[in-house]
Amino acid sequence: MDFLTSSTHLHITTWVIALVLFFVAALASKSKGIHMALRLFYILIIITGGALFIEGMDYNMGMDYGIKFILGILVIGMMEMVLVRKAKNKPTAVFWVLFAIFLFAVLFYGFKLPMGENFLA
Ligand code: HEM
Repeated sequence: MDFLTSSTHLHITTWVIALVLFFVAALASKSKGIHMALRLFYILIIITGGALFIEGMDYNMGMDYGIKFILGILVIGMMEMVLVRKAKNKPTAVFWVLFAIFLFAVLFYGFKLPMGENFLA
C-alpha cells in the first residue's frame, strides 16, 4: 500500500476533486449525478487519508492526527448536509458556515502536520 502514502499528492488530488464536484453540485439546479460522483470521492478521501493516518502514527502526534481525522470527516459531513438539504429545498446557510469553518481548520491542520507540505509548521 506504499503508493497511498509515498506522498500526500493522492490525498490532495481526491479532496481537490471533491471540492470542485461539491461546488458544481451546490450551484447546479439538478445535482443528483454529480452528488453520486462526489460520494465516490468521499470514499477515496477516507482511504487515502486513512492510509496517511496510519503512517502518521510514527510521529507521536496522535492528538493532532485525531483532530485532523475528525475535521476531515466533518467537512465531508457538511458537504453532504448542504446537498441533501438543498435537494429537499431546506435552508442550508448554517451548514455552509460550518463547512467553511471545518474546511479552514482541516487545511490548517493538514499543512501543519509533518508529512507532505508543511509551510505552516
Ligand atoms: C475534505 C476533506 C479533507 C481535506 C480538505 C483534507 C486536507 C488535507 C491537507 C491540506 C493535507 C496536507 C497535505 C500535505 O501537507 O501535503 C492533508 C493531509 C492528511 N489528511 Fe486530509 N483532508 C481531508 C480529509 C481527510 C480525512 C477524512 C482523513 C482521515 C481519514 C484525513 C487524514 C489526513 C492525514 C493523516 C494527513 C497527513 C498529515 C501530515 O502528516 O501531513 N484527511 N489533508
